[in-house]
Parts: sequence; structure tokens; C-alpha cells
Amino acid sequence: MNTLPRIAIYGTGMIGNYLGGRLHAHAHVRFIARPRVAATLRQYGLTVSDLHGHQQYVAPHALDVHTQPEAAGDTELVLVTVKSAATTEVAHELSKVLAPGTPVISFQNGVRNADELRASLPSHRVFAGMVPFNVTQPEPGHFHQGSSGDLMAERSADLESFLPAFAASGLPIQLRDDMQAVLWAKLLINLNNPLNALSGLPLRDELAQQPWRRCLALLQREGLQVLKVAGIRPAQLTPLPANWLPSVLSLPNALFQRVAARMLAIDPLARSSTWDDLQTGRRTEVDYVNGEIVRLAMSKGLRAPANAHIVALIRKAEQSYVRQDADALLNALRTAA
Ligand SMILES: NC(=O)c1ccc[n+]([C@@H]2O[C@H](COP(=O)([O-])OP(=O)(O)OC[C@H]3O[C@@H](n4cnc5c(N)ncnc54)[C@H](OP(=O)(O)O)[C@@H]3O)[C@@H](O)[C@H]2O)c1
Repeated sequence: MNTLPRIAIYGTGMIGNYLGGRLHAHAHVRFIARPRVAATLRQYGLTVSDLHGHQQYVAPHALDVHTQPEAAGDTELVLVTVKSAATTEVAHELSKVLAPGTPVISFQNGVRNADELRASLPSHRVFAGMVPFNVTQPEPGHFHQGSSGDLMAERSADLESFLPAFAASGLPIQLRDDMQAVLWAKLLINLNNPLNALSGLPLRDELAQQPWRRCLALLQREGLQVLKVAGIRPAQLTPLPANWLPSVLSLPNALFQRVAARMLAIDPLARSSTWDDLQTGRRTEVDYVNGEIVRLAMSKGLRAPANAHIVALIRKAEQSYVRQDADALLNALRTAA
């Protein structure tokens, strides 16, 4: 008897293809992709690998790839893996095809995607999720997890039956009671995404340089102040509490390397998705990350000038990418703040 769960991945890019490839042996995975992504999967198949040495390949004929929303209709769980700007459109598409009650997990960055999905899917069960690791595409059809961490999602009995398939796929999900706090903590970490993109460096090389880390520390301090005024306490996602991270980031290189090695594994390929977006000429998620701090600050009668400066720089880079110098950017952020 075949009891594998039927799981749709809605919007397969870096994260969706990686999750789908890993889940493939333990679930019936249906990929809902843009035509260009579907063509790549049909030509090259799907390879997934990770920093721990795992690698698996799924041949094109074994992939269930679709380009129409209707394909999500008869699945038992939907993972939404589009960028935040596409959530409203996806919610609308899913509302027309999903059976009522079908659970949906938003595996997206940002703090408001699950609510946005819920607004259009009132008779479905929508859960916030979080992907802690980075995924890159070193070659067509190959998706590589370049940093460590477990998936997280809102605790619910509705998700229990799917957990074994995720665990068997090497993607254990931690169910949490504090997902909004988790999303804010992840957002503080993601304040580095635009810096990584502007550095033009792999994540590990960028974080090895103190001036880049000081830029991030400055953005995080500003974010933490705004969250405090708003009464939001970010969850602790690393061995150290979120409000210690700016001090750790500011340490001299040798000391930082020692502390960081205990907190997070990053391989030489890892880069932020903002970098990928700028390289491929797509709009970034900066409005939903640094922009979220700016928006929250304004709603409390405050300003977040350093994060606002980064939003403006990324807007420019979306038009024409220019690598930034870390020391010059640090000066500009200090002046702005
Ligand atoms: N990449 C990472 O390392 C990483 C790590 C952790 C979390 N995340 C988060 O995970 C989410 C997904 O990121 P990603 O990097 O995987 O994004 P991505 O590579 O851009 O993948 C999203 C895919 O969904 C497609 N799409 C958008 N709307 C669609 C629709 N209505 N129907 C079908 N496909 C649609 C996009 O196509 P178009 O480009 O044509 O719109 C794109 O191919 C984001 O919130 C991101 O912040 C990413």
C-alpha cells in the first residue's frame, strides 16, 4: 500500500526545488513552477546537495512538474515558496483550486506572509514556517544548501502526519509555539541579505570581514531598538540571544571566527537570495526585510535611517548593480544613523 503524502511545492525556485528534491523519496511531490523553471527541471532533472556531503539526483521523468495552479488542487499539503511580493497573487490562485481544510505552510522570509495567505484562504489551515539555511543554484537544476539549521513551523496537530516524511528526507521540522517571534529573529539575521549582495562576496567571505559585520551589527542594533519599542521579543535562534548578536558581530576577526564556528556552519558556496535576485535582474525582497524595520519604526513615530539607507541602495542596485566598499558603507550607515 502506498501511503506517501501528496505535497505541492508552490513556486519552485531555490527553496522550493531544494525542499522538493529532498522530499522526493518520501512523498509524492508536485512542483508548481514558472515555465522557465519547469523547462530546466525537464531538461536537467533535479540534483540536491548540502554542506554535509549529501547529494541526490532525480531524473526528469520522475519529476511531477506543472505550470498551472490547478495542479495543487488534489494535494494534501502545500508549501508556499515564492518571494514575499508574490504572496498575494499565490493566495488568490490557491483560493480557486485548493480543497477547503488543506494545510498550507509559508516557507518564506518576512513576517506577514502567513497572514496574507490566511486572508485569501479563510477555510484552509495556513501555518507560518521558516527556512533557516541558504540555498544556491551552482548549475541548472542543481540546488545546494550552503548553511545549517532545521526547518520550523507553527505547532499544529494538522502537521503531525507529515513530519515523518520531512524527517526521513533529512529536513526535520521543529514545531514552535512562537513562530511570530521566530520570524522576527530570522528577519534580524536577514538584515544581512542586502549587505551580502552589495559585497559581491560569498557569505563566508563577507562575514570574515569585520567592516561588513559592523554594518550588520549597526542594522541589527537599529532593528532591535525598534522591536523593543514595539514590544516584540525576537526568539533565540542561535546559541546566543538575538540582542547579543551585534556585539558578537563586532568582535575582531579571530575571536569572531571562534564564536561563529559554534553557532552556524556555512560552506564556501552560500550567498544570500538578494544576491541571486540582483544577478538575475529580479526585484528583491528588501521591502519585506529591512523595509519592515523602517515601516515598524514609522508606525511607532521613530526612524530607522540605517535600514532605510540600505533599502535605497538596493533599489538602485536593482536598476544597476554596483559592488560596495565595506568601509565606505559603514561610514555612510554611521552618518545616516
Ligand atoms: N534562497 C535562499 O537561500 C532562502 C533561504 C531562506 C529563506 N528564503 C525565503 O524563501 C522564499 C523563496 O525564496 P527563493 O530564493 O526560493 O525564491 P525564488 O528562487 O525566486 O523562487 C520562487 C519561485 O516562485 C516563482 N513564482 C512566483 N510566483 C509564482 C506563481 N504565482 N506561480 C508559480 N511560480 C511562481 C518565481 O518565479 P518568478 O521569478 O518568475 O516570479 C520563482 O521561480 C523567500 O521568502 C525567501 O526569502 C530563501
